[in-house]
Amino acid sequence: MTQTLTGRTVVVTGGFGFLGGALAAKLVKEGARVVLVDRSAVPAQALPDVALALGGVDLGSPESAGAAFSRIAGELGGIDALVNVAGGFVWETVEAGSIESWDRMYSMNLRTAVVASQAVLPHLLAKGAGRLVNVGALAASKAATGMGAYAASKAGVARLTEALAEELKDKGVTVNAVLPSIIDTPTNRADMPDADATRWVSAAALAAVIAFLLSDDASAVTGALIPVCGRV
Ligand SMILES: NC(=O)c1ccc[n+]([C@@H]2O[C@H](COP(=O)([O-])OP(=O)(O)OC[C@H]3O[C@@H](n4cnc5c(N)ncnc54)[C@H](OP(=O)(O)O)[C@@H]3O)[C@@H](O)[C@H]2O)c1
Repeated sequence: MTQTLTGRTVVVTGGFGFLGGALAAKLVKEGARVVLVDRSAVPAQALPDVALALGGVDLGSPESAGAAFSRIAGELGGIDALVNVAGGFVWETVEAGSIESWDRMYSMNLRTAVVASQAVLPHLLAKGAGRLVNVGALAASKAATGMGAYAASKAGVARLTEALAEELKDKGVTVNAVLPSIIDTPTNRADMPDADATRWVSAAALAAVIAFLLSDDASAVTGALIPVCGRV
């Protein structure tokens, strides 16, 4: 099988989470040199065959992100692509919820994406080409009960994607987002034991769409917000 990302250095934020792990496995299979960045400590269990794994990096901090991306570019001779997977979720009604949840969702989902994008841009622009893929959420287009803070932060990720795609149109860097519905994760299965998990999108299927957006075949796609929903 032909590999589509041979030799490309791809940084995945939130790389020690569930989707981050599945994405790393897919990108390694496609020949990429994969770098995982996360605020959690590097997990004790074996990771896919990644080039570098950096734990303890808070992507809410421009200083911490800047240092991490400079180190990656220095050690691997540049950076070709960034996938912003880092994020989090809360279910909370507006009536019973706290304002801190809105701040926390903003920090985890939107601030991390903006900070990591700003940190990677000098490295992508230095190469004159690059790929940026954000993980948004389908829930951002219409928020259900309890989803206000999460959906608002992911709506921000959608607008970031559009604005940055326009900004970089003539600079060789594409910027797109995938919008998953419910990913089939152990956490979701535990939280929704009565749901039909076969209708959800698998992390492997989502990773395949992200890998396509990182590939040369997707060079004409920028500013796209792509629903990846399984059968939800
Ligand atoms: N699961 C779903 O059904 C679903 C649906 C739609 C969209 N998404 C999105 O898909 C992405 C991945 O989901 P997932 O289920 O794989 O989540 P996950 O397992 O919780 O992984 C997310 C990772 O991001 C890390 N992270 C959070 N804030 C960070 C920060 N400030 N700096 C560095 N790392 C940070 C988390 O660390 P901590 O563990 O320390 O927080 C975690 O390791 C998220 O953006 C999520 O919103 C998920």
